[in-house]
Amino acid sequence: MFGETTELATFESVWERAEEIGSPHLPKEQGRILFEAGQNSNGIAVEIGSWLGRSTALIGCGVRNSGGRLYSIDHWNKIAGGIIESDLDIWERWNSMVEDWGLERFVVPLRGLSHEIAGGWDSKRKPIEFLFIDGFHGYLETSPLRFPELWKKAYGMTSWKIGRRKIPMEDYAPIFPRGVKLDYDAWANKVCVGGILIMHDINRPEHPGCTKVWKEEVIDSKYWTVLIDSDGFGMARRNY
Ligand SMILES: C[S@@+](CC[C@H](N)C(=O)[O-])C[C@H]1O[C@@H](n2cnc3c(N)ncnc32)[C@H](O)[C@@H]1O
Repeated sequence: MFGETTELATFESVWERAEEIGSPHLPKEQGRILFEAGQNSNGIAVEIGSWLGRSTALIGCGVRNSGGRLYSIDHWNKIAGGIIESDLDIWERWNSMVEDWGLERFVVPLRGLSHEIAGGWDSKRKPIEFLFIDGFHGYLETSPLRFPELWKKAYGMTSWKIGRRKIPMEDYAPIFPRGVKLDYDAWANKVCVGGILIMHDINRPEHPGCTKVWKEEVIDSKYWTVLIDSDGFGMARRNY
């Protein structure tokens, strides 16, 4: 549909296709804001948390319109030296989406833990004009990673692959730090002055960690001017 076209994509044409990409929760009105933020960013955009790529497609088409570039960060189930084997291969699905949409030249995957990737990011060469945070939704955790039974069933998660070994899901739980606080601390200060921060799933009772970071770090901060503070979506512009 889009391929290597030089025509600018409209939000409506992008959404018609993007809503077919499975997503935990990204409704049309939020999709529009992501697309427009990508389109207005005119340079480098970064998203933390891509899953199958609904937000990637929306921001990616926005940055393609403006000639910018999106860096998509996700571990895509490759965590702490292991890979989760699953019927739903989210890494494969995300890559096929990018290829089908003709976004390869505009979207770059960075596979790994967001705070580790932040360590190698060169802010001078790559000042971020738009940052979208939608990764792990707890505030800050270091406990062993275990998935709810519902997820294991829904996505057909069967085992961990570590080197050549296969280990049943229930017998392995990697320990590593993760959380919205970690993502915010590692990435928000890389947003340039005048740049945009969007945080997903704030102000929702089921995600207190996202709301806590939004309230502690953004609301009433001299560094940010809040533009949207709604149910599920926070947007702010960096002042200095
Ligand atoms: C809520 S989903 C993202 C949804 C996506 N933005 C969309 O439009 O559908 C969260 C994603 O964050 C990823 N993730 C969670 N913790 C992470 C971390 N510490 N580093 C990198 N990715 C992480 C998960 O693999 C998952 O794909």
